[in-house]
Amino acid sequence: RPSDIYGDVRRNSQGYNLNVAFEREPLLENVAAFDDRQWSMKPLVAGVSTATDVVKTITSPYDTRQTVGQVHWTQPEHARDALAKADAAWFDWNKTPAVKRAACLDRLGDLLEEHTAELMALCAREAGKSLQDSIDEVREAVDFCRYYASQARETMNEATLLPGPTGESNEHYYEGRGVFLCISPWNFPLAIFTGQICAALVAGNGVLAKPAEQTSLIAGRAIELFHEAGVPTDVLHYLPGDGATIGNAIMDDERLLGVAFTGSTETAHIINRTLAARQGALPTFIAETGGQNAMIVDSTALPEQVVADVMQSAFASAGQRCSALRVLCVQDDIADRVVDLIRGALSRVEIGNPQKYETDCGPVIDEEALQGLSDYVESWRGKGRVLAEAELGTEAANGHFLAPVAIGIESIDELGREQFGPVLHVLRFKARELDNVIADINRTGYGLTLGIHSRNEATAAYIESRVRVGNCYVNRNQIGAVVGVQPFGGRGLSGTGPKAGGPNYIKRFATERVRTINT
Ligand code: NAD
Ligand code: ALA
Repeated sequence: RPSDIYGDVRRNSQGYNLNVAFEREPLLENVAAFDDRQWSMKPLVAGVSTATDVVKTITSPYDTRQTVGQVHWTQPEHARDALAKADAAWFDWNKTPAVKRAACLDRLGDLLEEHTAELMALCAREAGKSLQDSIDEVREAVDFCRYYASQARETMNEATLLPGPTGESNEHYYEGRGVFLCISPWNFPLAIFTGQICAALVAGNGVLAKPAEQTSLIAGRAIELFHEAGVPTDVLHYLPGDGATIGNAIMDDERLLGVAFTGSTETAHIINRTLAARQGALPTFIAETGGQNAMIVDSTALPEQVVADVMQSAFASAGQRCSALRVLCVQDDIADRVVDLIRGALSRVEIGNPQKYETDCGPVIDEEALQGLSDYVESWRGKGRVLAEAELGTEAANGHFLAPVAIGIESIDELGREQFGPVLHVLRFKARELDNVIADINRTGYGLTLGIHSRNEATAAYIESRVRVGNCYVNRNQIGAVVGVQPFGGRGLSGTGPKAGGPNYIKRFATERVRTINT
């Protein structure tokens, strides 16, 4: 039964239904109340907020004329100070009963729900998220709080009695490791940021929280709520700013005993090398990284359902999900029909202000991302490979918008690194080439999500068993894993595990101990 597997989590956060006017209209009014709000965040070390000399202005990705606020970037001395303070404080926090630490997370979940409108406004204005994505972002953050709290109550509160065949008593228990640096990406600026920190804290660690440069305002608001929920200020510190500057200041310090990272595979490799070069205690490294995610569609699949799921998987959140579909592998027999339907669906995509209910596709995160993606698409256009493309409307003029696009490829080997935006590649294959397609997907080295569309159960099972990924979705879209329902994470170039929102996650932030007493 689910309750046996997932502890006392019975229901995930419900969020709001945008399709129902009596839910949507009051919610959007509350969000609109934050239209003119400006936020300001500074490094927060042991509860002291400090102005620094490097101050960045945040503008909205969908309209760069609109400012959202300012962020003071952490300098190396603040990061080192935070590490020293967290190192001095984490031991008492670790000795606090796990139920009390869990209670802080439950309170945080409630506070996040109470502040839904403000957090949604920040998701849209700072990260360019659509209304639906903003609701989902808050919901997922709440789910992480409650799920990890329930996991801690279940696994960390009491020692487990082991056999004592020689008359001794033996007990096994978990406790915190020390100080963790939690580094998060901008594409889930609240959910992933909150999830990593919740897991590290509830396992008994001190935390240095390093949000992505692009989304430090919403992260800063979350930190204020963590403290309001009862997490001591000397246990949790907030370090916005440049990743390499902060990382280089503290990563070779032995007092840092763990790094939880979510972001690109390239950055994970840099951090891994830095930690590996360190002398002394071996730190824990948890990395959740990118993907080159495929969907395999055979000739028994229903083209209409396939295309509905492709549009969601490839273009929701402007393709800025690690789980997003990048390569649609479709059997020749139905490929023309599928491509025609994709062309039709792309022609109807509404691109624009993500705060509007009608918008299907918002902006990409910043100018650098837009430039990289545009250059990439142009290189394929030059080869005559663009199959279909959406049309940018007038709203796109002032922001970082890329028209969602489908590109025809002849082999998966033509793909390089992950393209983190609304770019779908389409590969046709013949029935006899299925094993080659599977081998090519595995050869990318990534292993995050896989979609399968087939009405033949044996084919679906065959594909699932041979493609090396973390999350496999059959006859549906391949995004939007739900905490405690679809624990999420990949393998190979896509990450180290354990799965976020799964039963092994908080244990990885803890260390095991055994107590033997000669009775
Ligand atoms: P990124 O790697 O550029 O940055 C991620 C974080 O790392 C940021 O906070 C950044 O400041 C920090 N950073 C950069 N260099 C650093 C260094 N030398 N030392 C310490 N920290 C450093 O990634 P991004 O562009 O923010 O996010 C998008 C990427 O994240 C995509 O590749 C996506 O697939 C991946 N992602 C993966 C998952 C997952 O669960 N597998 C989830 C979301 C996003
Ligand atoms: N957990 C996120 C998803 O499944 C990344 O889309």
